[in-house]
Amino acid sequence: MSELAINGGTPLFQNNEFKVMPWPPVSESTADKLREIYMSRQWSFNSPTEQEFEKEFAAFHDAEFGILMSNGTVTLECALEALGVGPGDEVIVPDLTWIATAMSVRYVGATCVFADIEKDTCCLSPEAFERAITPKTKAVIPVHLYSSMADLEKIIAIADKHGIAVIEDCAHMHGGKWNGKGCGSWGAIGSFSFQQSKAMSAGEAGICITNDQKLAERLYRAKHIGYSRYDKQGQAGTPPPQDLLCHNYRGLALQAQILRDQLADFPALNQKHNDFNALLEKELAQIPGVRLQSKGRLATRQGYYAQGVIFDGDGFEKINSEKIRAALSAEGVNVINTTYGSVRNHLLFNMKPEDYRLAPGGCPNAEEIVQRMMVILHYGMADQENAVSFAAAVRKLAENKSELM
Ligand SMILES: Cc1ncc(COP(=O)(O)O)c(C=O)c1O
Repeated sequence: MSELAINGGTPLFQNNEFKVMPWPPVSESTADKLREIYMSRQWSFNSPTEQEFEKEFAAFHDAEFGILMSNGTVTLECALEALGVGPGDEVIVPDLTWIATAMSVRYVGATCVFADIEKDTCCLSPEAFERAITPKTKAVIPVHLYSSMADLEKIIAIADKHGIAVIEDCAHMHGGKWNGKGCGSWGAIGSFSFQQSKAMSAGEAGICITNDQKLAERLYRAKHIGYSRYDKQGQAGTPPPQDLLCHNYRGLALQAQILRDQLADFPALNQKHNDFNALLEKELAQIPGVRLQSKGRLATRQGYYAQGVIFDGDGFEKINSEKIRAALSAEGVNVINTTYGSVRNHLLFNMKPEDYRLAPGGCPNAEEIVQRMMVILHYGMADQENAVSFAAAVRKLAENKSELM
């Protein structure tokens, strides 16, 4: 008789044992403040609430300047524009990320170069990055994916040697800190997303942070149709530089207020995610063939968009990840999602072949990891019990692996 629920056995969980935190969070006190802003009519154009949030969020990541924008895709686009990247230039991105990282390169007319990831962190491999460099390379966008930080020290050392700008895509790493310095403030510019599902969310919005005043000014002009931060709305004091393509990518005071309140609550929530991770690591330690992505490079202050769980040893590597996901789901595990695919193979990726290329050596690690990794999104990580239940389901699969082969 089969043991596994996917083959007709009894499911391990039947009564919604897994608690998923309703997301984004709401509170009466934030609602009151939003009403105040609404009544004040100061919704946009560099409102006081927006400025406060920009300062607070930048400081939380050890940066001096923050520039709020409408999402975490245009932040990447403006970062490239602020750095003067355009047609004829190449930008290196990891092959495993959300398509926005790559599409931002297309928006500025540069060529996107896909480089491989490290197997342990699932973030951009410094060696693959170095192999991908040509005289045309102007920027690199390492992504701190799900639950691990990219190897910033090595990547920045290589970038500096070749005069390449580093833009950190921190859409998954709110609050992250590595060796005493916040993520996003290691490179020239850090980019964050506050989209609906992110660990800090205003439904939509994004922010760039930087310690470079000139870049901060260019970023501001790029998102505010060319105005300087110090211009009165509608009264430009100085023109934007001619090499800067400027847009209206402004954020709203209402978004900034929601985010200010979430930032105040962030340390407590992040502690829950860290506690979940510690427990999950302990629970999974006795199960051969399964590992956590965060083991690759657990940051000094780790932020989580998700925890990557990788099934790549002790026979698990012979089982299709979709089958593992389906088997966990049949056991009643409702907190597991598939990882992003390799960007080049994503259904929504529609760059023309001449607009991108693969780094020498291709991206074999990314291709392998997308077959082996699943993710638990942060709203499934707020409850400690989920870690114990999840590990119990993985243990059941491990003990009955032959049924899946
Ligand atoms: C790694 C990464 N970069 C960039 C983005 C783009 O952010 P947004 O959806 O706010 O445009 C996302 C959003 O999913 C992301 O996951």
